[in-house]
Amino acid sequence: MESFILSEWLLQHFDSLGDSPAYRRLYQLICRAILEGRLTAGSRLPSSRDLAADLGIARNTVLQVYEQLSEEGYVRAGVGRGTYVQDISQDLLDAPAAPEDTLAQEAAHPDGVHHLSRRGRGLVSRLGFSNLQAGAFMPGIPDVREFPLKTWSRIQNRLWRSEPWDLMRYAPAGGYGPVRQAISDYLGSVRAVRSSAQQVVMTTGIHQGIDVAARLLCDPGDTVWIEEPAYWGVRNLLLTAGLRLVPVRVDAEGIWPGEAEYARPPRLIVVAPSHQYPLGMVMSLARRRMLLEYARQVSCWIIEDDYDSEFRYGTRPLASLQGMDESGRVLYAGSFSKTLCPGLRVGFMVVPEPLADAFANAVAELYREGNMMNHAVLAEFLREGHLAQHIRRVRRRYAERRACLIDEIHRHFDQTLEIIGGDAGLHLILALPDGVDDTLVVRDALQQGVVTRALSTYYLERTHARPGLLLGYAGVSPEDIRPAFDTLARVVGAYL
Ligand SMILES: Cc1ncc(COP(=O)(O)O)c(C=O)c1O
Repeated sequence: MESFILSEWLLQHFDSLGDSPAYRRLYQLICRAILEGRLTAGSRLPSSRDLAADLGIARNTVLQVYEQLSEEGYVRAGVGRGTYVQDISQDLLDAPAAPEDTLAQEAAHPDGVHHLSRRGRGLVSRLGFSNLQAGAFMPGIPDVREFPLKTWSRIQNRLWRSEPWDLMRYAPAGGYGPVRQAISDYLGSVRAVRSSAQQVVMTTGIHQGIDVAARLLCDPGDTVWIEEPAYWGVRNLLLTAGLRLVPVRVDAEGIWPGEAEYARPPRLIVVAPSHQYPLGMVMSLARRRMLLEYARQVSCWIIEDDYDSEFRYGTRPLASLQGMDESGRVLYAGSFSKTLCPGLRVGFMVVPEPLADAFANAVAELYREGNMMNHAVLAEFLREGHLAQHIRRVRRRYAERRACLIDEIHRHFDQTLEIIGGDAGLHLILALPDGVDDTLVVRDALQQGVVTRALSTYYLERTHARPGLLLGYAGVSPEDIRPAFDTLARVVGAYL
């Protein structure tokens, strides 16, 4: 291509690249001309002086662009002899041809999933998370508008003013010391958890705690018992860690393993004894003792997921499983996602003493934790007794909302549809008759602007899944609950 033609082509396109600096526009256009084959290998670029004059830009700009193109291998500069386009066709020839099946996969997965590992493909094929994080009736969400902004910001402002340089570094292994102590004290008094501060390892939430525990305590292929049904998030973490999941049935007393399961001890058991998710029952004392004794005998670990046990509307919160454990087999996973707000991403793991240093070091090594300003605020917040006060206040509010939702359910369906797990937590389940496809109900409700989750999707083995709808009420005011439930009732009615 003759040099003056390049200049013409550049002139034609120069303004179409908007307001970006002349340097960027020129660089992008020459790259394009080379990659598209307009400028063939060996052709000479115009002199910097001529091109600058043609385009009405500084000569220095052209020189800089030529230099960058040369460094990146698009052109070669012969000293005093001009600038020539490199032969880049060889690069393509050197690249190994894509195997047939790769091409077929690319065609089948234009979203890029084929680039992922088998583990990655598994993960993205099972996604449970939603970008919808508010509104009737998204489960698992507290009312963030109740967050104690004034108290939190008062403590935080005081800390910022103290020039808290140490809080702005990476956190030490295990996290900020005073918050570990404050959490240990708090759990001792409200959850009967027995721990020292050293056993408390700060995390970004239960998700991270269980992820680390799965990786530190299990090898790929190890067996894990999970409750059936269970929270999809934890299920997906464990599957992605390469573990073999054994879904164990639950009844009104919680997890209920059978002979076949007892015969093959797992490496890990994950339970939510204080408030089974999503069904909401509390594990009985007999089952707790059975589980602890079994873990002691077969030397497996138990993870206690204690995500929202503070919210009980009749009875007092139950003591933790960890507090009953005499053999050091229980890891207690806790979080402030439900008691304060999920966006904080503050949680913790209370681990048996012999594991404490390994867990603290592993979290520091894997994630280079920080977030110490929030940890420091939280430490004060706990020490000054604000959390207990906040929970008492929002519990009353959530109880009103729960009552409002139950009234609506009775008003629309009388007693024909069972309510499951309505005594505690941030959601309840509206059971649907066998044979109803709850995923279709969820889909239709969403089209009408109402968000719910299908109970059947919480089962690993769908064949024995119960149909139902998880309805979160904690974050929805009664004024919003009523019209949203009217809509939902119409959708559900069409399936009955
Ligand atoms: C049973 C259960 N465990 C854990 C979590 C998540 O906890 P975190 O936000 O602390 O990661 C949830 C979230 O909804 C949950 O339902």
